[in-house]
Amino acid sequence: MIKRNKIKDLLKSTEFGKEVIVMGWVKTFRNNQFIALNDGSSLSNLQVVVDFENTSGDILKKISTGAAVKAIGTLVESVGKGQTVEVKAKTVEILGESDAEKYPLQPKKHSLEFLREKAHLRFRTTTFNAVFKVRHALAFAIHQFFNERGFTYLHTPIITASDAEGAGEMFRVTTLELGNPPRDEAGNINFKEDFFGKSTNLTVSGQLEGELGAMALGEIYTFGPTFRAENSNTTRHLAEFWMIEPEVAFADLEDNMNLAEDMLKYVIKYALDNCAEEIELLNSRLLDEEKNKAQKDRSELSLIEKLNFCLDNDFERITYTEAIEILKRSKPNQKKQFNYLIDEWGADLQSEHERYLVEKHFKKPVILTNYPAEIKSFYMRQDDNCAEGKQTVSAMDILFPGIGEIVGGSQREERLERLEARMDEIGIPKDELYWYLDTRRFGTAPHAGFGLGFERLVVFVTGMTNIRDVIPFPRYPKNAEF
Ligand code: 4AD
Ligand code: MG
Repeated sequence: MIKRNKIKDLLKSTEFGKEVIVMGWVKTFRNNQFIALNDGSSLSNLQVVVDFENTSGDILKKISTGAAVKAIGTLVESVGKGQTVEVKAKTVEILGESDAEKYPLQPKKHSLEFLREKAHLRFRTTTFNAVFKVRHALAFAIHQFFNERGFTYLHTPIITASDAEGAGEMFRVTTLELGNPPRDEAGNINFKEDFFGKSTNLTVSGQLEGELGAMALGEIYTFGPTFRAENSNTTRHLAEFWMIEPEVAFADLEDNMNLAEDMLKYVIKYALDNCAEEIELLNSRLLDEEKNKAQKDRSELSLIEKLNFCLDNDFERITYTEAIEILKRSKPNQKKQFNYLIDEWGADLQSEHERYLVEKHFKKPVILTNYPAEIKSFYMRQDDNCAEGKQTVSAMDILFPGIGEIVGGSQREERLERLEARMDEIGIPKDELYWYLDTRRFGTAPHAGFGLGFERLVVFVTGMTNIRDVIPFPRYPKNAEF
């Protein structure tokens, strides 16, 4: 067994004079004497003071940025600035050398773009240590939130034959030979000969299977990877991202909104309470980054203020129809500053519109409801009281500052005839989804659910500006490195 003390514990310790063993990676080595050592347990480094007179020149040479070292020594009160404890080393052993000339991370500030290309090493920077600690805390808090409320964590399939969102943005899963696939009589690729005996893809959402679970277990949630082959090269889209999808039986749109708002507040509070040091660091990082922006582009609130603001205020709840009225009258629409001008009911909202509503008009998170059926998925419940020719559905999108849509959900269409009619209208094959329709055939009931994009949540809580910086190894068009 390897015995060692974690740096996180030592930094808090007052057991001066105690012998300790520390292992970590060298951040810097100054004056042939002072190692700033980090083992990942804390954002702060531990100062290890090397007894350079009694340490061989060979070892001193190898204590370089990036090297892994082991030091044995005593914990002492530090007289130096910036730390209360340090380790006076008796011996230093090199566990793994690092050629300072070749090591990509120099002891200076690197751009996030540069670090994205070194994603295999960026965990070693303080910023990414903080980001991934917060990501972990949020994931943990999500499970805790649902567990406390009696939800069952249901694992929905990653390989599926259905397109839950009906958007056709799927990655195919096949073992057929690309160059020479089997053909049927009509000359089409014969998926009967494929691994699953049918055409399959990676899931875009676990919702449809989640609904089956909810219609028996009552309250379920999925939390898994989802895949979308949309060619979106933006700071908000990934081709592989994680989604949290609760589904609740005997619930309507309002229950759904309440659940989503409670969940978001719960997990943000959990991160503030449990990742204070990390969020403090990310707060300063963002302030620094904003200094390079023009005054008008800077955010009014710091990261911590923004998170607290979100906890302290009710989300604004308005209908799509109300939002369109606000947008039509808005300055950027009148002055033709939007890339997509809003001129009539029915228009799909772009992120510029979502962000206007949240950041300029309401200045707080907004839940938009009752969208036109035309721009939403087939499974959403058709509203009963809508004006002639303006069929809306019980959808809800939650919009967050700096992000736009963070949650998308709805009450589901539980009436078999209405659901089948809608599927026919937009050409979704009913026979392939017989299993989904069975829940409406046998003991149907009102139910609702939503999907939270996990990385968009992490972007919000960490104040990072690019979604590629909050997932360890981002997948996006033309990139599947590492
Ligand atoms: O709005 P979406 O497409 O909703 C669904 O998939 C529903 N089946 C969810 C449900 O009701 N159970 O996606 C849900 C959320 C979005 O609000 C967004 O936060 C995130 O998933 N999302 C993405 N995140 C990163 N990259 C992408 N390409 C994303 N597409 C959606
Ligand atoms: Mg959506």
